[in-house]
Amino acid sequence: MLNKIIIAIDGYSACGKSTTAKQVAKILGYRYIDSGAMYRAVTMFFLDQHVALTNPKEVSRALQKVSIAFKVNAKGASETYLNGLNVEHEIRDIRVSEFVSQVSTIKEVRQAMVEQQRKMGKDKAIVMDGRDIGTVVFPQAELKFFMTADILVRAFRRQRELLDRDIMVDLDTVIENIQERDRIDTTRTESPLRQAPDSIVIDTTHITINEQVDEVVRRAISAMVKSR
Ligand code: DC
Repeated sequence: MLNKIIIAIDGYSACGKSTTAKQVAKILGYRYIDSGAMYRAVTMFFLDQHVALTNPKEVSRALQKVSIAFKVNAKGASETYLNGLNVEHEIRDIRVSEFVSQVSTIKEVRQAMVEQQRKMGKDKAIVMDGRDIGTVVFPQAELKFFMTADILVRAFRRQRELLDRDIMVDLDTVIENIQERDRIDTTRTESPLRQAPDSIVIDTTHITINEQVDEVVRRAISAMVKSR
């Protein structure tokens, strides 16, 4: 029998982290946790409830009313629930996307999310993607990846995803949005996006999703054997 491990996938926005993580989880029979979806769900709640983001007391009070869960749908895909409601699509809207980086800089928000993420990983057999999974959430993870790609390639991919959902945005706007998110994610004081020293870098500029998935699965199997 193979050992259960924790696989952490961190990296910049729009590098294919979640697409890779989802497929790897399916192949290994592991649970997939989209930690970005948790920050998005909190952001949606804060916007709906008009929470003053600069008021730590108000933020802490609001956080106590936030319950986030993931449920697998009939097609086997994991979906995000906020206080019992399926918000999987709504949290990807531009309204939430515009504020999520700002909300994820708030210390109280990060503490609450990290605590929940650690609980989700206590039985291992999990693939979690995000920005601080290998550095802060699970520094002891058996396998860590750091994904990166050329900005133009990332922007093209993100624009195609948006077009698939009938959302028209010109490439310059997509590039600016990604650059701004990179800037906030890497320069914030609380758990900035950093490459963990023991992580494996995957540059996805010239490789396909299948190649990304194969690389992660291959290394996962060898880590599962090694950690026996
Ligand atoms: O992965 P994503 O684009 O859905 O993430 C949305 C935002 O959440 C992103 O701007 C950074 C933040 N995030 C974070 O700070 N820490 C994580 N572990 C995951 C996401």
